[in-house]
Amino acid sequence: MSKKAKTYKHWKLEYDKADILWLHLDAADSSVNLLSAQVFEELNLILNDLATDLPTGVVILSDKKDSFIYGADIKEFTTLENKGQAAAFLKRGHSLMNKLEALPRPTVSMIHGMCLGGGTELSLACRYRVMSSEDYSKIGLPEIKLGIFPGYGGTVRSIRRAGPLPALDMMLTGRMLTARAAKKIGLIDEAVPLRQLKHAARRFIMEEPKARKPGLLQRLANHKYLRPLVAKQIKKQVAKKARPEHYPAPYRLIELWQNYADTPGEMLRQEINEVSQLATSKTARNLVRVFFLQEALKKYGKQVEYKAKHVHVIGGGIMGGDIAAWCAIRGYSVTVQDQSPERLAKTAQRAMQSFKKKFKKDRRAIVAANDRLMMDHRGIGVAQADIVIEAIFEDVDVKQELYKGIEPRMKPGAILATNTSSIMLEDLASALENPGRLVGLHFFNPVALMPLVEIIHGDNTDETILQQVAAFARDIGKLPLPVKSSPGFLVNRILMPYLLEAVMMVDEGIAPESIDKAATDFGMPMGPIELADTVGLDICKNVASILSKTMNVELPKNLERIVKSGHLGKKTGSGFYQYKKGKIQKNKKIQHGNLQVLQDRLVLKLLNESVACVREGIVENEDMIDAGVIFGTGFAPFRSGTMHHIQEVGVAGIIEKMQAFEKHFGDRFKPDMYWQKLMKK
Ligand code: NAI
Repeated sequence: MSKKAKTYKHWKLEYDKADILWLHLDAADSSVNLLSAQVFEELNLILNDLATDLPTGVVILSDKKDSFIYGADIKEFTTLENKGQAAAFLKRGHSLMNKLEALPRPTVSMIHGMCLGGGTELSLACRYRVMSSEDYSKIGLPEIKLGIFPGYGGTVRSIRRAGPLPALDMMLTGRMLTARAAKKIGLIDEAVPLRQLKHAARRFIMEEPKARKPGLLQRLANHKYLRPLVAKQIKKQVAKKARPEHYPAPYRLIELWQNYADTPGEMLRQEINEVSQLATSKTARNLVRVFFLQEALKKYGKQVEYKAKHVHVIGGGIMGGDIAAWCAIRGYSVTVQDQSPERLAKTAQRAMQSFKKKFKKDRRAIVAANDRLMMDHRGIGVAQADIVIEAIFEDVDVKQELYKGIEPRMKPGAILATNTSSIMLEDLASALENPGRLVGLHFFNPVALMPLVEIIHGDNTDETILQQVAAFARDIGKLPLPVKSSPGFLVNRILMPYLLEAVMMVDEGIAPESIDKAATDFGMPMGPIELADTVGLDICKNVASILSKTMNVELPKNLERIVKSGHLGKKTGSGFYQYKKGKIQKNKKIQHGNLQVLQDRLVLKLLNESVACVREGIVENEDMIDAGVIFGTGFAPFRSGTMHHIQEVGVAGIIEKMQAFEKHFGDRFKPDMYWQKLMKK
């Protein structure tokens, strides 16, 4: 059969008059293109055929709507049992990329929409890359987030195209680049509007321009005498964010480049060796699990088609103001209401800062976001809103009073969402004619940075409203986690006993620096004392005193004292630490000694509360506890959550330790009764 008549499941071949082959990828039974084993196999057959019957050139493109290739199929990745299997998996990819690269005809990757990981590596194996300049077109190599780095030759080829500094930066951060940014570093050859993309691809095939080379500075950085120095600097930067014992991949990538940049063939071989080892490590397996937890959260937002048009936020304070700005950033028309006009003036200023931070020099985007956000002292927006988000003072009576006033003015079917962090939904709903429309939409501070929102359902919350609000959360780029209405919900409830244990340690005379180090050594992104200072000690105290009524937590005396004295943490320039121009002042000379007991005390609090939440069915299942602690508290992602950590360490050993601590420190270390059930599991 002629190659032109052959059909494939995932690829479509189209030859034009100039005998250019337009190679369309349209992965069957999938809304996005993934480089599965089958997709690779077929591409291999196609390339074999091409070798004997060469077209003028080949353009690889996607038939999916607004996306190119999302990378390798991570599900296949999880089936690799050992290093040998992983190496064989990667070698197949390498030989395919080499074959594509060796085609003696011009090849173009025509990128539109998301191009991730293996998709970028495939593009780099083409002679040219053209990309649409639409905002949603992004390219990157985010493998580092899964505990590995590019393993289909992407290390060598990205460095060859962009030079070592931009390429390493992209691989080490996992950052996605717009077409403009990618063009600037030389990763792609052309960025054009979508309507000109095909034309640009054709032009590259017909004209075969010389490949662009990285500039002098990049070539210098790649020189063997300079590399050790540069590598040391980069490692220093990486060390600020990730420790080698927790996240080895970035360090291995830097060393790979340092050792083999002069011998690309060897670097490719070593890439297979390194990535296959990393891919089967505990860190990578746990990070891949985190990826799937994230996907599971996203599903909550996909159960209904829902699109709100107008959002009305009541309360222009820290949270309400930031929520309103965030919704405007995400394209919503927003009104924000506050009882205090002075406050609203500040809200507007703060929002402008958020827009500038988000859109940087993009004036047009800043102005557009600002136009979408309206200050609305009198609350006119209530009547036109599809969703009203309440973020006023944390006081049942004040909130109920407000609800009584606004409910008659709300559109039928409009959602009332509260950002309360501690009040039971049932208590608030009792003020409403239609209690089913009230749902908790609990954002975390700072709104722009925290990925999770808890979707709180009370006894009466309407199921459709829950799904709609989850869809809304997804639409504003947050991960929705459905949580039962109960004191502290999930995240604060798990976090608070841990923070209070840390505060108690300070009361015992232990240096905050040592306490925080014990936590960061474990893998927490920030120590609990620094976190308490950052959140605000007044807020910590409020949440803690509410929780102390229902849970086995005591309010440490020193917390009350420090709040009374007006030292509320970072925002007032002092709390448990001092701050100079917002920068924390830690004593670097402290001798920490053995931190194991401190670390155990902190971690056991997190684990015990997680187990209690499983027992009470606060979220759907144990996986959702893990998702909550990772995305809501930053719990060491490489440990894949508290419940997963319990399985890894072993239930019996943890119970034993808790019992010993119970004897020594008292009741607050009493193991929750659910541990016994876990033991039997
Ligand atoms: P905030 O004190 O900064 O802002 C509250 C705003 O609501 C003030 O500007 C006030 O003037 C306004 N307000 C009060 N009563 C009003 C009314 N009847 N009508 C219109 N405006 C009114 O408080 P913050 O920190 O923003 O908290 C708001 C809500 O968010 C609370 O329920 C809090 O528990 C919750 N929350 C707070 C977090 C935090 O870290 N601050 C985190 C997550 C939730």
